[in-house]
Amino acid sequence: MENTHMETECPTLSALAWTVIKNRYLARNCAGDLIETPADMFHRVAASVARADRLFDTGADLSKTTERFEAVLASLAFLPNSPCLMNAGTPLGQLAACFVLPVEDRPEAMCQTMKEAAIIHGACGGIGFSFSRLRPRGDTILQACGGAEGPVAFIRQLDRAAARTDQNRRRPAANMAVLEISHPDIEAFINAKQTRGELRHFNLSVAVDDQFMECVNSGRNYPLVHPGTGKAVGRRNAEEIFERMASSAWQTGDPGLLFIDRINRDNPLPRMGRICATNPCGEQPLLPYESCTLGSINLTKVVENKEINFVELDRLARTAVHFLDNVIEINHYPLRQIEEASRSTRKIGLGVMGFADMLILLNIPYQSDRAVAVAGRIMSRIQRSAEAESASLALVRGNFPCFEHSIFPKRGVRLRRNATLTTVAPTGSISLIAGVSSGIEPVFAFRGRRRINGILYDDIHPIYARYQKDQKPIPKEVFQSAWDVAPEWHLKVQAAFQRHTENAVSKTVNLPGSATREDVRQVFLNAHAMGLKGITIYRDTSHGDQVLNTCTVN
Ligand code: CDP
Repeated sequence: MENTHMETECPTLSALAWTVIKNRYLARNCAGDLIETPADMFHRVAASVARADRLFDTGADLSKTTERFEAVLASLAFLPNSPCLMNAGTPLGQLAACFVLPVEDRPEAMCQTMKEAAIIHGACGGIGFSFSRLRPRGDTILQACGGAEGPVAFIRQLDRAAARTDQNRRRPAANMAVLEISHPDIEAFINAKQTRGELRHFNLSVAVDDQFMECVNSGRNYPLVHPGTGKAVGRRNAEEIFERMASSAWQTGDPGLLFIDRINRDNPLPRMGRICATNPCGEQPLLPYESCTLGSINLTKVVENKEINFVELDRLARTAVHFLDNVIEINHYPLRQIEEASRSTRKIGLGVMGFADMLILLNIPYQSDRAVAVAGRIMSRIQRSAEAESASLALVRGNFPCFEHSIFPKRGVRLRRNATLTTVAPTGSISLIAGVSSGIEPVFAFRGRRRINGILYDDIHPIYARYQKDQKPIPKEVFQSAWDVAPEWHLKVQAAFQRHTENAVSKTVNLPGSATREDVRQVFLNAHAMGLKGITIYRDTSHGDQVLNTCTVN
């Protein structure tokens, strides 16, 4: 009953979207009954985010801004990340998806990290950690009888704690563990998810620097460095370690790689410190205690008569930047340090979803030079519109507080409200709500079944279904699934988006079950050569248990 009633109230939502929204997003009373419709939810979010305008202009017309935000949300043309949809205008009020916490090599600091992680997970956030400063396993600890447990043991503790905080949550706890390639425990880290079911709440990424990649390419050894003393404590053959990473990823999907020098070349605040970690899916590099709210434009909404409406794209991007900057103002931050760091850099991450669907509507195969060109044009346009909106916001609201320490004044930029503007997120849940392909991924399958809360749903791609309904022949060259796209084309699309994205791009290179370890190694090498900030692969039939594959719908 409940289902039918709500569906008639929001005809734009598919049955699958309705199920996701009902189970996870709509507000409920203490008895657990729904107290809002999807339309109410969009109004709740729009009205509470619009309210921030009054902080800068006491005469701001809130109803006009609410209307503008509500229009883009309810038409599914732009959606912010899940915590914003779930919590805006509610007592929890935590709206960011991404956090990075520091990990220090002191027992009391490690306990503090565990506590802070529980608080963030309880507020729907995902966390990235760099464990590179922890002393290696077996290292002496003064005044203790035994040796240090090392990073992997601490990651396991955090994973067990995440499993506990997961109960009764609307969003499974997601984490990213990062370790530098030169850490003495790197091999244990690379193998940490080889046993099925281990570290279910963690994605693993090795932070690989350019020097290591040079050693791989020239077959040289590289040093393992003690994080406390800075002294070399061993040497490894770079090619062997690289092969081990490829082999492990071939088996389970983990680890991914973060090209950490490439990430830091785009760090807008190098004077505030080197970036060592990203959020759980790798698309948002952050300094410790920073957070970020993401939002994505639904690209199918800017296709008209098989052409891209760039004016509409500009309008959506500007509205989205205004929305996300407001979110920074009204967010209830889970920790004081997070509030300070997030407000001083004001990072936001605007990206896209439905890229593959857009290509189908434009009659362009994903695996084509035209698709790569479209990717570049779309993202550069979003970046430029986002810069324009951030500058006009800065005119009224001021530059972000750390502006003078950033790279922007030297580049001649005078107005910037946000240290970063663009990020391409996986959009695992919000793309289901919008009923479009996720992020920039090719369509996973045009016909399939999805399990949501234990129930299997038929999941037929909407454009595919329309072709079937109209009894039109399916143009196979355009309806390419993730498995029809060769790895190098996955990378070319990712690189095209990355060229115009200030933060990073979430993308999984899907490989067929028959792919070899050497294929994975080649993808890793090409990803670095193409200037990507990170790379994740998933081989069909491998026993991967990546956080995001399991948590987007469950
Ligand atoms: O679609 P949705 O807004 O739910 O999220 P996404 O685009 O799939 O993921 C964006 C980010 O949200 C991830 O990189 C994580 O930082 C965070 N996330 C999380 O904390 N827990 C999840 N279960 C899924 C995502």
